[in-house]
Formats: sequence, structure tokens, C-alpha cells
Amino acid sequence: MSTSVSPAPQAQGEGAALAYTFIARTSEVEPGYALQVQVEGRPPLAVVCLEGEYFVMDDTCTHGDASMAEGEIVGCEIECPFHAGRFDIRTGAATTYPCTKALMVYPVKVEDEQIFAALDAGHCADDAA
Ligand code: FES
Repeated sequence: MSTSVSPAPQAQGEGAALAYTFIARTSEVEPGYALQVQVEGRPPLAVVCLEGEYFVMDDTCTHGDASMAEGEIVGCEIECPFHAGRFDIRTGAATTYPCTKALMVYPVKVEDEQIFAALDAGHCADDAA
């Protein structure tokens, strides 16, 4: 699945200086499947609902040019459709070879059944150590 959005509307994060961009409506994200979202001017994103919580990450696999939204959700991981490498959906960390580099993940908030992500505040698990 995929959808496109323009960068607006934006909402400001509570207290923080983060700018949140509308990503998708919660009804568009089916549990067990990732939704590819195109935000104008950016590489594609993938949105996943895991046990009622929403996660936004880069859609392009760090091992090759695969769309993670076409991959399979396996527990808390998403499996690449090309070579079956996996990433932890919650952190973006690579968990299964041949993926060794984490996916960028973004802070998310949900308001009025709409998912927003702070696209300028992405986090890479590889940088955390
Ligand atoms: S392109 Fe994703 S595991 Fe190779």
C-alpha cells in the first residue's frame, strides 16, 4: 500500500520545538502491514501499527533499493522483501543479516486519528552507542 501527502499541515510538538508533519490517517494503516507514504521532497516513509502504537521509519532498506512497506511484519520486526533482512520496528535497528545499518525512525504523535511525525528529528539506532 502507498499514499502521498504534502508536507502541510504541520502541528507543533507540545513544549518542544519539534515540527510534526501529517503522515496518514490511522484508518489507512492496517495492523500487520506497512503503509508507504510519500512526503513531498523526501525519500519515502513507512508507517506501521504495532499493538496500537504507530511507528514511522524510512521506507528504503539500508541494504538495497527495496520498499520495506512491501515487506512482512514479523512480531516487532519488519522483513525486507528482497533478501529477508530485518529491522526492529520500534528502534529501526538492523536485526537480521544482510541488513547491518539501521533504518532512520521518527518521533510520532497521534491526534484526532491522524499520525504526525517529526521528520527533522529522525533517530538512527547506530548513532546511539
Ligand atoms: S535490499 Fe533489503 S535485505 Fe537486501
